[in-house]
Amino acid sequence: MSVKVSEIGSDLYRISVFVSDFNLQFNHFLLVDDEPLLFHTGFERLFPVVYEGVSKVMDPKRLRWISFSHFEPDECGSLNQWLAASPKAEPLCSLVGSLVTVGNYASRAPRCFGQDAVQTGKYRLRYIPTPHLPHGWDAGVLFEETQKTLFCSDLFHQEGDVAALSTSDIVGPARETLIRNESSPFAGYVPYTHNTGKLLSSLAALHPRTLATMHGSSFQGDGARALEDLNIVFREVLGGLAAAA
Ligand SMILES: [Fe+2]
Ligand SMILES: [Fe+2]
Repeated sequence: MSVKVSEIGSDLYRISVFVSDFNLQFNHFLLVDDEPLLFHTGFERLFPVVYEGVSKVMDPKRLRWISFSHFEPDECGSLNQWLAASPKAEPLCSLVGSLVTVGNYASRAPRCFGQDAVQTGKYRLRYIPTPHLPHGWDAGVLFEETQKTLFCSDLFHQEGDVAALSTSDIVGPARETLIRNESSPFAGYVPYTHNTGKLLSSLAALHPRTLATMHGSSFQGDGARALEDLNIVFREVLGGLAAAA
């Protein structure tokens, strides 16, 4: 399995591994700063491949923060391998994540900053809890305020070995993937709750310029519009299914 590294913004790298059996990319993001951050560690078994990708950009021992959305193997499966390889690194996650899942699992205690931002040098990061969006009680997203990058995990999930960055529509392909998933054993990927629409609108209000997605192309452009469009897709596809049940 090979790794593709693409610079998708200033100091922002997308480290992509395509798993052909799933027809799916697994993307990991590296923000290089005085205190570099990795968002998504990847699966335990992909650690050597993702490590090689990070090494193409910087010395992985410099990593300071390792963050992810929720407790799941593609998000944080190799967390302890990364913590062993990067002695200065600390996990950064939601309060629920730190108390319920990550704190029990991680070989080094996780950090949770609540409403406070983390200054990594040039960049400022804010961890935003989004319970059950995309899924998991502990879920959250990470927003980089300077370049307005939203690390949005499984939102905008698209299949295929697609381009690293798109400036056109990613909501259409995400809609098709969601519809396909709902009639497959992977149905129920995103629970549609009374908070789904509110959470997506609150993320749109951040006006992100880059959406860094775990599966599929990242997006550069009007991130608020894309999030509101995704809100409509979720309401139509998932809300419609919930209403029909
Ligand atoms: Fe997930
Ligand atoms: Fe994922």
